[in-house]
Amino acid sequence: MGKIAPSILSADFAELANEVARIRPQADLLHVDVMDGHFVPNLTIGAPVVKCLRPHTDLYLDCHLMIDNPADLLDDFAAAGADSCTVHVELGDPRPLFDRMRTHGMRVGLVHNPETPLEAVLPYLEEIDILLFMSVHPGFGGQAFLPEVLDKLRAARGIVDERALPVELEIDGGINIETAPLAADAGADILVAGSAVFGAPDPAGAARAIRAAAWGT
Ligand code: DX5
Ligand code: ZN
Repeated sequence: MGKIAPSILSADFAELANEVARIRPQADLLHVDVMDGHFVPNLTIGAPVVKCLRPHTDLYLDCHLMIDNPADLLDDFAAAGADSCTVHVELGDPRPLFDRMRTHGMRVGLVHNPETPLEAVLPYLEEIDILLFMSVHPGFGGQAFLPEVLDKLRAARGIVDERALPVELEIDGGINIETAPLAADAGADILVAGSAVFGAPDPAGAARAIRAAAWGT
């Protein structure tokens, strides 16, 4: 049975605690999109918001760092109460970042963009807890799902299963009731959904529908 990670990127930032409480019954993790206006063109939220959210929810806080300088900010995310940080392989050798996250007791995520080959992340498979597949170009919610990413996901599923690695495969971008079954079928463990959840009149109902479309439960 897979997990649903609503992305608060599409939530009402002025109502975050209420938005999170509303989604709680249908969320397994909460996906927090951190954008710096440099690594991606958009600017969103950072560790101070994670710190404010932490006392309002027991949900796992899955922080996706779309920033140029994660090394400078990992300590802040750990102190704020992040359960994991996920860093982009496109920035270069992620091992020092992994070490820093482990020092803080955070789980470790690695993410790669749609055009980045799977080979770029394979050397790190045994050092991470989460491998994230971007199924849109990072930076904005509400973009269309890129189906070509499914081939990478399927290949990773095979490798992870064959080696019995404790790595969760997560996919992020354009997930809705149409694309969720495709991602689940290709082997995703965690589906991130932003606009399809928080853009719906009933976010918890929308998350439930995505879960049902993906895994039939
Ligand atoms: C995009 C972010 C996503 C975003 C997904 O850069 O990483 O997490 O919130 O939004 P949707 O589900 O609307 O594509
Ligand atoms: Zn994300």
